[in-house]
Amino acid sequence: MDKICIIDMGSQYSHLIARRVRELGVYSEIIPHNISISDLMVLSPKGIILSGGPSSVYEENSPKLEEGFYEHVKTEGIPVLGICYGLHLIIHQLGGIIESNEKKEYGKTELEILDFDSLFYSLDKKEIVWMSHGDQITQMPDGFKSLAKTNTCPIAAFGNEKLGIYGVQFHPEVVNTAKGTIMLNNFIHKIVGAKKEWKLEDWIETNIEFIKEEVGAINRVILGLSGGVDSSVCAVLLHKAIGDRLHCIFVNNGVLRKNEEIEVQKQFKEKINLKNFHYVDAKSLFLERLKGVDDPEEKRKIIGHTFIEVFEKKTIELETKYPSIKYLAQGTIYPDRVETAATSKNAAKIKSHHNLTLPEDMRLKIIEPLKDLYKDEVRKIGEQLGLEPELIDRHPFPGPGLAVRCVGAIDKEKIEILREADSILLEEIRKAGIYNDLWQVFCVFLPVKTVGVMGDFRTYEYICSIRAVESKDVMTASFAKLEWDLLEKIGTRIINEVKGFNRVVYDISNKPPATIEYE
Ligand code: XMP
Repeated sequence: MDKICIIDMGSQYSHLIARRVRELGVYSEIIPHNISISDLMVLSPKGIILSGGPSSVYEENSPKLEEGFYEHVKTEGIPVLGICYGLHLIIHQLGGIIESNEKKEYGKTELEILDFDSLFYSLDKKEIVWMSHGDQITQMPDGFKSLAKTNTCPIAAFGNEKLGIYGVQFHPEVVNTAKGTIMLNNFIHKIVGAKKEWKLEDWIETNIEFIKEEVGAINRVILGLSGGVDSSVCAVLLHKAIGDRLHCIFVNNGVLRKNEEIEVQKQFKEKINLKNFHYVDAKSLFLERLKGVDDPEEKRKIIGHTFIEVFEKKTIELETKYPSIKYLAQGTIYPDRVETAATSKNAAKIKSHHNLTLPEDMRLKIIEPLKDLYKDEVRKIGEQLGLEPELIDRHPFPGPGLAVRCVGAIDKEKIEILREADSILLEEIRKAGIYNDLWQVFCVFLPVKTVGVMGDFRTYEYICSIRAVESKDVMTASFAKLEWDLLEKIGTRIINEVKGFNRVVYDISNKPPATIEYE
């Protein structure tokens, strides 16, 4: 299958570029910038995109490509597109000049197209693009031609047909570049000539066959099923491939949403007909271990370790009963597995939240059927496999669950208060028909008591904060501007129906600087 490799120069948009390429029907992969030419060639890319990045080419440790890269891709006939830093790097490494421009360009800019034969085929003379740069090209190496300009940037795009090398100073991958998809399509199909072979229908067939072959006719597979999109799709796919030789373990950690354990069982036991669904009630163990712990990282760690312990114990019990259990399936998806330079930096800076990796000494072979897919692709596959839309379109829910939405030390009572309020919120949001417009919406328990009055009585209860955000890429999010009437209805219901809250506040913080979750 034809493939485009995206070489990651540290851009926060590397995954976005890869997704756009796939939306255009071509398989894509993200590759670190320090890959050697020989390793890159093993991947047989049909075309290469160099991402943007925060560095300047003149910084000593800024990402560079191995010497000989451009000669090599020319000989192999692999076209290259550089975006922003990628464009600077091409010019810098081929002997041109990049300079820091006093007039920095950020945001929407008008692009004047000078050449319509390649990248800008079928576009208008003037197009709106998204710029974000300080440096720009002041001199190009021989053989390079300017394809477009802006008011402050005379070379906003270039091409060298002979070498098959192109570059754009702006970001075609973001939605603010109105015709960015056409530009990427021109590169992928017109310049690279890649075939549209990435189809999810074929993916399902191929991967069911692959799982059958890998697991064989006798072996059994264990899967930790959380009820989230990834593990659910993984379960259905495996079930189609190996039937009742799939064993799903669902752990109730005591910090799930209201009725979660009932709904997941209904979905999988009754609708999907999964015979080997193993429900483990570990509520008290988790809550016992979390008693008095108020540090968010500590809470996450305790939940993570306890989950592994409970899961391992159940697996050993099942292994004793079914010695043919040889595989451990995981719902890992592509962005979980391939950290770009930008996401790994962020992860280190902000907080540790990734899905759990189980200890290697479990001696089970790992199988990760969704490892090359993006979330939207997983959702489409789930849809095609017949999972309920309510399950597929669910908002993300953190592994440590309500524990990180209940600020400070938690106990059963606080979690129950939060769980009730959260279920009212979700019910009203669904009723208002806006659930799918929001990235996430949930309640948070603030451990601060304030005074209120109910009837003739003075109350002294906790505060419920409502968080509703819109986001496209999770890296940034803005608080949703919900209707006042809806907020009033939700607030009134929570205060009237949930004993424990006498005040509801609405969170108007954006990310950054706030995060979506509170802990
Ligand atoms: P923040 O709070 O950093 O969250 O803005 C970004 C996104 O990550 C989700 N999140 C998690 N997801 N396990 C997960 O699978 C976790 O431990 C976890 N913690 C946060 C969060 O809900 C948001 O969508």
